[in-house]
Amino acid sequence: MPDASTASVSPTANIGVVGLAVMGSNLARNLASREGNTVAVFNRSYEKTETLVTEHPEAGFVPASTYEEFAAALQKPRTAIIMVKAGGPTDAVIDELMRVFEPGDIIIDGGNSLFTDTIRREKAVREAGFNFVGMGVSGGEEGALLGPSLMPGGPDEAWVTLGPILRSIAAVAEGEPCVTHVGHDGAGHFVKMVHNGIEYADMQLIAEAYDLIRRGTGKTPAEIADVFAEWNRGELESYLIEITAEVLRQNDAATGRPLVDVIVDEAGAKGTGAWTVQTALDLGVPVSGIAEATFARSLSSHREQRDVSGALPGPSDDAFTVPDADAFIEQVRLALYASKIVAYSQGFDEIRAGAAQYGWTIDLGAISRIWRGGCIIRAQFLNRIADAYAAEPELPVLLSAPYFVEALGRAQAAWRDIVQIAAGAGIPAPAFSSSLAYYDGLRAERLPAALIQGQRDFFGAHTYRRTDKPGTFHTLWSGDRTEIEAEDTH
Ligand code: 6PG
Repeated sequence: MPDASTASVSPTANIGVVGLAVMGSNLARNLASREGNTVAVFNRSYEKTETLVTEHPEAGFVPASTYEEFAAALQKPRTAIIMVKAGGPTDAVIDELMRVFEPGDIIIDGGNSLFTDTIRREKAVREAGFNFVGMGVSGGEEGALLGPSLMPGGPDEAWVTLGPILRSIAAVAEGEPCVTHVGHDGAGHFVKMVHNGIEYADMQLIAEAYDLIRRGTGKTPAEIADVFAEWNRGELESYLIEITAEVLRQNDAATGRPLVDVIVDEAGAKGTGAWTVQTALDLGVPVSGIAEATFARSLSSHREQRDVSGALPGPSDDAFTVPDADAFIEQVRLALYASKIVAYSQGFDEIRAGAAQYGWTIDLGAISRIWRGGCIIRAQFLNRIADAYAAEPELPVLLSAPYFVEALGRAQAAWRDIVQIAAGAGIPAPAFSSSLAYYDGLRAERLPAALIQGQRDFFGAHTYRRTDKPGTFHTLWSGDRTEIEAEDTH
């Protein structure tokens, strides 16, 4: 361990940033712009550090060309935020920081790391005597610079030092900074993962709404931009609706066509949506809206499979035009709102299940409040979620809160019409339809799961429970078909 007192740099910085690509640079500039912060910066290639420092003299950065200098520049407990690519690069930086830091110092990973990696890292770093915080950062490049939504996990001890610094840089929504200590070890990255899963669902629902309106009314992208701009003045008000209008209004300079018609229709994904679904499968939480959104991106990007499209028969009447465009658009709006409620409800269910599984205490109301500003899914609607958890913290399922029951009741007829219209016209609306199926699944007094239990018992003696008495039973299917009491095999 180096002796910081002998290094040439004096410890003037209260926070450091490692990794100066766009997100790291912007976060560093955000930190530097807040009263009381002096920011040490380090990047693997020093050139990037120099460029940042030269381009932003106002920030008063303390540049470091080695990890030793970086450690020497930081006041104790040293606090450093890592903003590098998730995975191997994060592990490599953690190792370097542990080499030059001292016990009690705080290492924060602000990348989109998988929460199970964060749990592993937190344990290893803690055992070496340091504090480790996995922190979700949402809001893209602009959020990092002007105010992101921050989802830190990690130990309480680190939060004492980190809390005031993070509060100073987070977005502010209705007077409150969009940051809370989410829970221990991987809780912050878990919540950020689900945030991204909800982001996928929200984006897919918006895309389905756009597609239905375009194909049903023949409106141009610019005209549909007006529809979204209008929606953004009501209960759907959100960042994603707002930017949808911007994207749809954009014309391509080279061809003069709407940009959306020039972009290849294959959606990319960096993996956080898939993680949300994989984790939900492990936890047994039906996040069907998020799953459909993730699969819809996969389907779009399998060009070789989509090339068979001409061979697959569609509805006999391919010309799909709705009789009343305004009425149809209102139905789509309601279907979008209802499906969005389902997606968020499923996401919050996953957070609750994750907390139970991993032993975190997560305040769901606080999560909805820190998502009101700074992040990609920021929306007026999150206030309603916050209200719902404030009224009933142990709400078994978010969509059963009175506000959402009313909204779903108001929307459901239109929602059903839209799903039927889409199916009839051969327009894929997987997120709309799976959300409706989920809703009807919750509503159903009896589900055909009883038949599945019968089938399971038939071929595998998996047993079933009866509606009229306690215990576990098996029918002797290959014998005389009488019923016996049996051990529960699930
Ligand atoms: C955010 C975003 C951000 C990023 C994701 C999206 O909250 O700021 O979610 O994390 O945009 O990487 O990932 P995909 O590339 O998978 O869409």
